[in-house]
Order: sequence, then structure tokens, then C-alpha cells
Amino acid sequence: MNNFTFYAPTKVVFGKNSECNVGMLCKDFGASKILIHFGGGSVEKSGLLNRIKKSLDGVCIPYVQLGGVVPNPRLSLVREGMALCKKENVDFILAVGGGSVIDSAKAIGYGVTNDFDVWDIFEKKNSPKNCLPIGVVLTLAASGSEMSNSAVITNEDGWKKRGSNSDFCRPKFAIMNPELTMTLPKFQTMCGSTDILMHTMERYFTSNGNMQLTDGIAESLMRTVISNTRILLKNPNDYDARAEIMWAGSLSHNDLTGLGNGGNDFATHRLEHELSGMFDVAHGAGLSALWGTWARYVYKDCLARFKKFAIEVWGVKNSGTDEEIALKGIEATEDFYREINMPTNLRELGVKPTDEQITELAKKCAIATGGKVGNAKVLYEEDMRNIYEAAR
Ligand code: NZQ
Ligand code: ZN
Repeated sequence: MNNFTFYAPTKVVFGKNSECNVGMLCKDFGASKILIHFGGGSVEKSGLLNRIKKSLDGVCIPYVQLGGVVPNPRLSLVREGMALCKKENVDFILAVGGGSVIDSAKAIGYGVTNDFDVWDIFEKKNSPKNCLPIGVVLTLAASGSEMSNSAVITNEDGWKKRGSNSDFCRPKFAIMNPELTMTLPKFQTMCGSTDILMHTMERYFTSNGNMQLTDGIAESLMRTVISNTRILLKNPNDYDARAEIMWAGSLSHNDLTGLGNGGNDFATHRLEHELSGMFDVAHGAGLSALWGTWARYVYKDCLARFKKFAIEVWGVKNSGTDEEIALKGIEATEDFYREINMPTNLRELGVKPTDEQITELAKKCAIATGGKVGNAKVLYEEDMRNIYEAAR
């Protein structure tokens, strides 16, 4: 078992009607002027935004609002939010939405509290020293941003999508009512499950060791996401399935499923971030479009884990060579993606990059990762290019 630090300071309030607590929670965390931040309209349509305003009115906390966050959230809106917060003396940001809204809120929080340009944080030119406190009302189980230390922002200047990790941005609280996710289009629900699975898979495929308890939690989480996604495919309004997946989403990216295993591959994620930065695809769909190609490219370097994954997660029989078993696990994963209508290559994703664009994707990914990424197998720019190429 490797050494680790576990830090998960977010207060989670989970279940039906939990959003009614939002006013009190903001008060408990010292908010005196709030920015309510949200996306392109789903929270207005569902009536959630009005319920939240009522709750804030109930505790007499004033607020301003800024909607318009798009998937793959943009730096320009972050700058708009920063200006609004400064003008209005906002001291707390309430993100109401999915990962894009939460990440945009985190970036605004960084921008307001650090005395250098916010994009420097995402370019790794400067480290954040603070962030405005963030509260979350989650409407989409996927990114895990409600408990994670990450924010991912796209700069329209060059269409660069970059992430930043620091504990300063971990939300103070996350309100999770599974019922709020029932209005999601089926595609977004399936993208969410794909992303949740992947956050644990990124930690599971490690060449650095293992920890029995962590593996058990990780395997159980993956099986739970798979079986409950199948339920949602048929019945999107199944509360218990929504709840299982929502909680899995948070645990899958709050570090729990990788503790002590020396993991953190995240190559598929880093390859995907360039795709969604350049082609504006949904993050979960970008991940499934790349994963199978990545897996076949690296599995021989991480055979023991791929074998364990096949047996423990997909129920592949422990017979035949290790390679045969590992490949059956990869096939089972791709079959599952097809079953839930997720793409398994770039064509199915609707992206047809030219040779020049493949080169650009690999170059951007290499720059963003400092030249190399991966733990199951370390990938360099040429490997990144090979994977994009083979995923076409
Ligand atoms: O904008 P609205 O109208 O709200 O519509 C959104 C959006 O179009 C819709 N939606 C959300 N909740 C809904 C709903 N529609 C109906 N009913 C609801 N209850 O869903 C669409 C997608 O939303 P988005 O927030 O973009 O999705 P997701 O939560 O998957 O977040 C994706 C972003 O998170 C980043 C991704 O790269 C991507 O930019 N990630 C962030 C991470 C983190 N901070 O820790 C980790 C992840 O690996 C990921 O990279
Ligand atoms: Zn992700």
C-alpha cells in the first residue's frame, strides 16, 4: 500500500427535497452576498432556480445571478462573472447545475481572490492561493466536481481546454437530490454514467501497486454504476437508480477509489479534454470514443489490472491466458458503451479530424501534460498521436 492523503471537506446533503436547505447552508458557511451561477436554462425551466431564490430570501441573503454557462465552460463568461462579483461585493458563489457550472464557479472564485490573471492558473504559470467559497446544488451526476479539487475551463482563444487542481476550490457543501436529475435528456444521463465509471477506471489501471480495500470499493462502485445505468436506460425516473448513480459520481472523483494504489492514469481524460476543447463534444461521449483504443494500446503494460478488471467488474471467467481475459474485459466495456448508446470511436462521436488536426490534438495534449501522461503506461506525444489516429 502506498502512502496517501485523503481530504474531502465537502458537506453533503443528500436526498429528496434537500435543495430546501440551501438558504440555511449558505448562511452556515458565512455567505452575505451570493452569486447564483447556472447554465443555459434547464434550472429555470424546472423551477429549481425559483425555489433556490425563495430559500435565500427566507434567510435574507441578497444575491445576483449569472446564467449562460455552456458545456465545456468558457473563459469569457468566467471573466464576466469575476467582474460581477467584484462590482457587487459577492463573497459566496452558488453553482446550480452540472460540472460545467461548478467549474465555471470555481474559476470565478479563483479569479476574484488571486491577484494575477485567472488563465495563468489553468496554464500552470501561477498557483492559486485562495478561492471564494463555493456551494453546489447538483443537477447532473457526472463530473464529480461537487467534491473534487478540479476545475476545467476552455479558452476560446485557441480553443484550449485546461484543468487545474487545488484544494482551495473544493465546494463547502453539495446538495444532491437525485430527483433533480430526472429531467436530463437520456444522452446526458448516459454521458454522466460513462464519466463516473471512467473516474474510477482512471485510478484503477495503475502499475504502482494495489490496496485490497480500495480495489473492493472501486469494483463495487463500477458494478453499481453499470447495473443502475441499465435500469435508467429503461426507466429514467427510477429514484433509487438515480440515487445510486449520483452518490457514485461524487465518490468516484473525490479520490476515495484510488487511495493507496499509487494510481491516477488519467490519460483518457487528458486526450479527451483536447477533443472537447477543439470539437466541443460532450465529455462523457468523448471518453467512451477514446477508451477502447487507449485500453488496447496499453493493456499489455498493465496486464494484471486489466485481468482483475475483467473478472471482478464484468464477470469474465478466469480461464485462458491473461491476455485473453484482459481483452474480454475491454470488449465487455465497449459492448456496454454500445448498449447505452455511447460512441466507441471518433466516427461514432461525430468527429472526423484531418491528419493536421490529429497532429494538433496530440501536440496540445503533450503541451497540457508537460510532455507525458499515464500510469498504466506512460504516453508521449507520439503515443497520443497513435491513439487519436487509431480511434478514428
Ligand atoms: O445548461 P443547462 O440548460 O443547465 O443544460 C445542461 C447542459 O446542456 C444539461 N443539464 C444539466 N442538468 C440538467 C440538464 N438538463 C436537464 N435537466 C437537468 N437536471 O446538461 C448539459 C451538460 O451539462 P454539463 O454541466 O456540461 O455536464 P457535466 O456535468 O458532464 O460536466 C461536463 C464538464 O465537466 C468537466 C468536463 O470536462 C466538462 O467540461 N469535468 C470536470 C471535472 C471536475 N471539475 O472535477 C472532472 C471531469 O472529468 C470533467 O473533466
Ligand atoms: Zn471526467
